Amino acid sequence: MNILLTGGAGYIGSHTVIALSEAGHTPVIYDNFCNSNKSVVERLEKIIGKPVAMVEGDIRDTPLLTKTLQNHEINAVIHFAGLKAVGESSIIPLEYYSSNVYGTLCLLEAMNQARVKNLVFSSSATVYGDPQYLPLDEQHPLSATNPYGRTKLHIEEILKDLKASDSEWNVLCLRYFNPVGAHVSGLIGEDPNGVPNNLLPFIAQVAAGKLAKLKIFGNDYSTPDGTGVRDYIHVMDLAEGHLAALSYLEGLSDWTAINLGTGQGYSVLEMIKAYEMASRIEIPFEFTLRRPGDIAACYASVEKAKSDLGWVAKRGLEDICVSSYKWQTYRSSIA
Ligand code: NAD
Ligand code: WQD
Repeated sequence: MNILLTGGAGYIGSHTVIALSEAGHTPVIYDNFCNSNKSVVERLEKIIGKPVAMVEGDIRDTPLLTKTLQNHEINAVIHFAGLKAVGESSIIPLEYYSSNVYGTLCLLEAMNQARVKNLVFSSSATVYGDPQYLPLDEQHPLSATNPYGRTKLHIEEILKDLKASDSEWNVLCLRYFNPVGAHVSGLIGEDPNGVPNNLLPFIAQVAAGKLAKLKIFGNDYSTPDGTGVRDYIHVMDLAEGHLAALSYLEGLSDWTAINLGTGQGYSVLEMIKAYEMASRIEIPFEFTLRRPGDIAACYASVEKAKSDLGWVAKRGLEDICVSSYKWQTYRSSIA
């Protein structure tokens, strides 16, 4: 199938391009490069050994999106494009509502005009708010603790209403937990602008000597070692989960949301230890105060992904840390 990946030049989208291409699909990237680099396209072409179609544009440009859907005879859309920094979303909420919510409305309008009604949406475990129980299953109450998470909730609800209004739409919301790691080639990976907010890219830059020390945000949580526990899923497992999602999408009778995680939580200290083992480099750290808005623990129930998608994450901490360090080493060499 011809698959349009909005935000396809980004971290998760670029890895999904590889998984789709290797499965015989034709991915088409649509991206405004506000949080990615055009050079990723040529690196993708090097990895998959064939050209990758790319359209530079904003998802709020409905006419360009409609033309792209028609010109490339798109069969389904995976909607990665959007802003995703939790802290930033409280500083510039209007930009998050414009890009994420209004951008999605523009995409849906373009899809309607082009008569493309198969959509996989990048949602997030952040829609679960502060966990009331663990592991988190898809029936857990939903809430938002920041504008970013609220945009994801709004979009899920918009898609529910769309499906209810027109049964021809096949809509699947994938709730990602904590994507980490990089493609085995080391040629692509997470490439945040500025100082990383997230744990793994920060640790990677400490290992590469770009940052001096990791600050661990709190060691007084009710977790085994007092540090935060998260469900870290290898980005290639996540990418492969989208292959399963595309197959599941066809003829989907109801609006559906499915977790994409490993079902296993690891603490910050456990991640540091795993990274040191993989890179053979010591990661200096110090404990500091909790980060506002952080939760103690968050990890997925993976039963629905297993039963409905026939998909489970396969890669472990070693794959995550080795691939992350290989990418960081390459990234530092081309800086
Ligand atoms: P990313 O920032 O690396 O990729 C997003 C891509 O979308 C970038 O290439 C960016 O240039 C593009 N983009 C942003 N706004 C756009 C617009 N208005 N028009 C066109 N392109 C635009 O992020 P990612 O980590 O790959 O995340 C992809 C999706 O998955 C996002 O929707 C994010 O909210 C969601 N998600 C990410 C995580 C995570 O931890 N990375 C977790 C859960 C959900
Ligand atoms: C993981 C753990 C921190 C950095 C975020 C978003 C979420 C989703 C995934 C988009 C926590 C600790 C971190 C550091 C630290 N993104 N940490 N020092 O917060 O679970 O999720 O990314 O959808 O919406 O909230 O990921 O990597 O920021 O933090 O101690 O310098 O590492 O306290 O326990 P998080 P994270």
